Amino acid sequence: SAVTKDGYPSFMAKEIQEQPDAVRRTLQGKVDAQGRITLADTDIEADFLMGLKKVIVIACGTASYSGQIAKYAIERWARVPVEVDLAHEFRYRSPMLDQHTLVLAISQSGETMDTLMAVRYAREQGARVLAVCNTPGATIPRESDAVFYTQAGPEVAVASTKAFLTQVTAVLILALYLAQLRDVGVGAEIGDAVEELRGIPEKVKQVLASERQIKDLAGALAGAPAVLFIGRHVGYPVALEGALKLKELAYTHAEGFAAGELKHGPIALLEPGQVVVVIVPSPIGSPILHAKTMSTIQEIKARGATIIGIAEEGDSVVNTWADEVVALPPTHPLLAPLLTTVPLQLLAAHIALARGMDVDQPRNLAKSVTVE
Ligand code: G6P
Repeated sequence: SAVTKDGYPSFMAKEIQEQPDAVRRTLQGKVDAQGRITLADTDIEADFLMGLKKVIVIACGTASYSGQIAKYAIERWARVPVEVDLAHEFRYRSPMLDQHTLVLAISQSGETMDTLMAVRYAREQGARVLAVCNTPGATIPRESDAVFYTQAGPEVAVASTKAFLTQVTAVLILALYLAQLRDVGVGAEIGDAVEELRGIPEKVKQVLASERQIKDLAGALAGAPAVLFIGRHVGYPVALEGALKLKELAYTHAEGFAAGELKHGPIALLEPGQVVVVIVPSPIGSPILHAKTMSTIQEIKARGATIIGIAEEGDSVVNTWADEVVALPPTHPLLAPLLTTVPLQLLAAHIALARGMDVDQPRNLAKSVTVE
């Protein structure tokens, strides 16, 4: 049956709102009654996963940012080294892989040619390929050894929103599953994270309630010539995604940086009027990263730039420094991208609308790029 906008002004608006359900569906059947992760319908042997020496993620665009999040989660929880490659760079750097390597190919469409060619190369080199894909029967899952289907449902808007959140959900499930199998002594943290993951769709819904605030903010930012996004840890790929969304939808120049890198160059860009969106780590879950981010915020403030903080509710420190704060419910630090990404999607979409752009069909872009 044809996918419709269901009364929403755009597919993008609809797909952003569908995110709590998309994440819930992706979690469905993955956690048993004992709170253990099961990947029964993902055909990949436990023996292979237990003997794993390395994971390499390959993907393009938004999907590659879910791959960067996978690195933090898999290394922290499962203690397996992870490399993340843009699929079109992967083959040309003589990557080292063998039969103990798991290649994670992340693709919403399952048809991206760069990613498909990287999958073929990885299998030729003897690696095992697990696809994380949103499209049943697409070429990438068909050519992979196993597949984890995200359950975002059809994504029509060219720029990815709900598919990204389900990719992040999938890689978190995978990281927790690997940790469980390999039993590397982080048991209690795994239990907590699984529990937190079960409640995350409700929190995504709470974040969507900030749309009114973000719409007003977007009105004020619509004329900004450039916006910077910074974050630390998993907030760094979220900053990259926030910047990409704004470029794609509003054609506003945007850059994402690791917050710690600001002082090594990009700080030269700061002057009064420059807008900087800061993804702030939790003061409770990540106190050290929070403190470091706060000193970065003070550096920005000292140059007279405008600060928009995406922060945990009740974070009184960020409230004293930022010009505006979007407050989010608390969560586990590795799950934070499932919440912090959402206001950035809304911000990009509303800036684009304020600028009169077509959010579903941005110029020059294709939903799936089937050429190399
Ligand atoms: C295109 C789309 C992006 C998407 C990228 C990867 O460039 O415009 O939104 O992130 O392809 O697509 P995939 O289907 O492989 O996730």
